Amino acid sequence: MTARRTPAMGFVACAMIAWSACGGGPAPSSPTPVPPVSDAGSLKATGSGKLVGTAIQAGFLSDARYRAVLDREFNYITAEYQMKWDAIETSPGVRDFSAGDAIVAYADSQGARVKGHTLIWHGSVPSWVGGLSAADLRIAFESHIRAVAGHYRGRLLAWDVVNEAVADDGSGLRDTVFRQKLGDGYIADAFRLAHEADPQALLFYNDYGGEDMGAKSNRIYDLVKGLQAQGVPVDGVGLQMHISANGRPSDASISANMARLASLGLLVNISEMDVRINNVAGSTQARLDAQKSAYHDIVRLCVMEPKCHAVTFWGFTDAHTWIVGDTPLLYDAQYVRKPAYFGVLDALSGR
Ligand code: G3I
Repeated sequence: MTARRTPAMGFVACAMIAWSACGGGPAPSSPTPVPPVSDAGSLKATGSGKLVGTAIQAGFLSDARYRAVLDREFNYITAEYQMKWDAIETSPGVRDFSAGDAIVAYADSQGARVKGHTLIWHGSVPSWVGGLSAADLRIAFESHIRAVAGHYRGRLLAWDVVNEAVADDGSGLRDTVFRQKLGDGYIADAFRLAHEADPQALLFYNDYGGEDMGAKSNRIYDLVKGLQAQGVPVDGVGLQMHISANGRPSDASISANMARLASLGLLVNISEMDVRINNVAGSTQARLDAQKSAYHDIVRLCVMEPKCHAVTFWGFTDAHTWIVGDTPLLYDAQYVRKPAYFGVLDALSGR
């Protein structure tokens, strides 16, 4: 069974890339001098046909250096945490969409698309949800998805509907509060509710540790194939790609996993890429070179896979990364492009 819709992703992405490459976006207002962004190109303007994205936080949008890079490089925006359940509904029934709205408004101003992240994740359950009875959790679960997906109806390209629901060893589903109190069917329920609330959004399952062929990716494959068999609206799988340059999944295995998901008629995307280098042996330059190679080779796999429609980095400057003590991103903490940036630019440029 193929996916419900075959979105004209390539056309949409190319249309946006062409527009932004012609300077379509407004010049960022910057009261303080912004270091010149060298004319070394723009990740979103390579003509790759792929959406090129980053996770962002609303509070950084007023930083001129942050905005200058964000405006130039990316056309696919993900809220790093501000569209999650615990960030929106800190008290039962009291929802604050302001940060997510600011992120969507920013994306709209740039002609960029938005991926909602994430409706159901054991890592972002509000504190008041934990103690609910099964019956009350069902009510809260359904109300949350309807309210949040409904609030952003028609404004997002996609949702990460369910995040990290498969056990790390691939033995089954992760034993989360949702599975314990709502049963294994909570995943299908979440996708159905999201589709009802926003019929146009592409609906993704998102996870880490299942990028290449193995027990976890086998279980993810079986999960999404099973959802399709039940007629559940699922459009794709996000491969988070939180990796280290030392001991990373092989290109061949990642490519094979992308291809088997694509054979189901699903889209795939690289959804949260960052590449740690602290455990790479040798000089600083050796670490940076290993990081560049990892970024280049893996992004190229997405470029080469027709059903890989997007690559998103989990931030873009080492000044703001969730990985404390490492430097996993494309720009350094002073907003200077690292070798990794040029590796990604080369991959998106077909080099
Ligand atoms: O910005 C506020 C700050 O104002 C406040 O003082 C502070 C204390 O409450 O919180 C700060 O927000 C934190 C935010 O990170 C920014 O640092 C949130 O509490 C914290 O929950 C949030 O953590 C995020 C985490 O998911 C949980 O939502 C990380 O940024 C984010 O990188 C991480 O991302 C996850 C993906 O969603 C799923 N895949 C794994 C990935 C890494 O864990």
